[in-house]
Amino acid sequence: KSLIGLTLLPQAGNAMGTLLGGVGQDDFIHPVFPKVDFYLPDLEQGQPLNGKQRFTLTLQQGKTKILPDVTTQTIGINQDFLGPVIRIKKGQKLRMEVTNQLNEVAALHWHGMILPATEDGGPHQPISPGKTWIAEWDVINEPSTLFYHSHTHQHTGSQVWRGLGGQMQVVDEERDAELGLPHEYGMDDFPVILMDRAFDETGEFIYSNERMNKMQGMHGDTMLVNGRANSVLRPQKDRIRLRLHNASNARFYDLVFSDKRSFQVIAGDGGLLETPQTLNRLRLSPAERAEILVDLSDHQPVSLKTLAGYGNLSMGMGGMMRDTSKLDQDYDLFHIDPRKSEATKPSMIERLIPLPDWSNVEIAQTRTMNLEMQMGPRMMFGSGGFTINGQAMQMEVINERLTANSFEIWHLKNPSMMHHPFHIHNTQFKVLDRNGQAPYPWEQGLKDTVTVHRDETVRILLPTGPYYNNQEPYMYHCHILEHEDAGMMGQFIVTT
Ligand code: C2O
Ligand code: CU
Ligand code: CU
Repeated sequence: KSLIGLTLLPQAGNAMGTLLGGVGQDDFIHPVFPKVDFYLPDLEQGQPLNGKQRFTLTLQQGKTKILPDVTTQTIGINQDFLGPVIRIKKGQKLRMEVTNQLNEVAALHWHGMILPATEDGGPHQPISPGKTWIAEWDVINEPSTLFYHSHTHQHTGSQVWRGLGGQMQVVDEERDAELGLPHEYGMDDFPVILMDRAFDETGEFIYSNERMNKMQGMHGDTMLVNGRANSVLRPQKDRIRLRLHNASNARFYDLVFSDKRSFQVIAGDGGLLETPQTLNRLRLSPAERAEILVDLSDHQPVSLKTLAGYGNLSMGMGGMMRDTSKLDQDYDLFHIDPRKSEATKPSMIERLIPLPDWSNVEIAQTRTMNLEMQMGPRMMFGSGGFTINGQAMQMEVINERLTANSFEIWHLKNPSMMHHPFHIHNTQFKVLDRNGQAPYPWEQGLKDTVTVHRDETVRILLPTGPYYNNQEPYMYHCHILEHEDAGMMGQFIVTT
């Protein structure tokens, strides 16, 4: 039934994967690995230096045993693969010294941070091999789970895939203690960085942003949590906080526990919600985060799964794509074994924090963003085809001009055939509605990334922030990294 499928299905194994720009789907269907211990990333809290908190971050190459018996060539930040969890506090003055020891240009972006455009780490702040880039800013973000990652012009997808990314946490332990929230890193508070990767038979990553992978975004068939497949978390406490973080290039997750137990969602991208939402299912598109509280007082082992049927793999791509159902199936992401965990005082939290009241703010500007895929040979075989309002990203073009310290409403429209997670730099916004309906329960807090499903219009209310600069732009883009690299990105400056 599919054009591409018909031409290529007779090919076998990796050859087909390669021709399709695919991931060797037929060789590595739902691989099962022996269970390993949950990998807790190192915590990096910096060193005080002249009133600032100084971090030294080195982008480096390495080899990592991600799968049993083989090593994979990876890149990472201060380590072989991925980066440490960077923990900071509101009010700190940060000094990030980023040294690029790779033999390719890189950029390191602080996703979700509100900061001057010159410090943003986007495509306009490239770091050449051997060079150090210094970013300094004051943390004005609320306590939240953020994401730092490569943002190199047209190479974000490949660099994140190989490992240039990590979790960043703005924390306020006193406030968490008052609210009764678990907050001890590695004890009852855990990063859960979700990624999928594809490996060839020698254990090396497969990455291709050509053809089908460019269109559907790069997916893999091996699910990793904090960079490890099939791991088991044995928490010391029986009430835990998981900072779920979709760091995948393109995969959407539809998360449930294997026993369908409910959990409390306490925070989204930009920080705590007003009231915890008790749910048993939660969806996260690329770059979205959610913090959940999980009650393990039954001391029963349980797994976190992602369900098939959600995201771009299952859409059939208007008949253009071969049947990918084998790639789109239920997976166990990781396991939790609380049999030896200590009992904690049960506590049902009813209220968290009041969110800012923006119901009467003056709207300085309303804009529409059309997320488009221009189907045709250019999209399939050439470059381009991914646009916002008819324009593909160009480094020298400023698409929008915003005014600092104001509010805007953006209508995010998706007339294309796929779902797109839309992200805006330098802001934490409020989702007003989806096709006129209330946002999802887990979207009630502030956000920096929002899913815009096919045929949907999502309205958001965004503060433009206190920083302005006539020259240096910020980005807005689809966070399917292959779409971003292919041009579904625009630039804005914030002026006085
Ligand atoms: Cu997560 Cu423009 O980035
Ligand atoms: Cu960002
Ligand atoms: Cu997209």
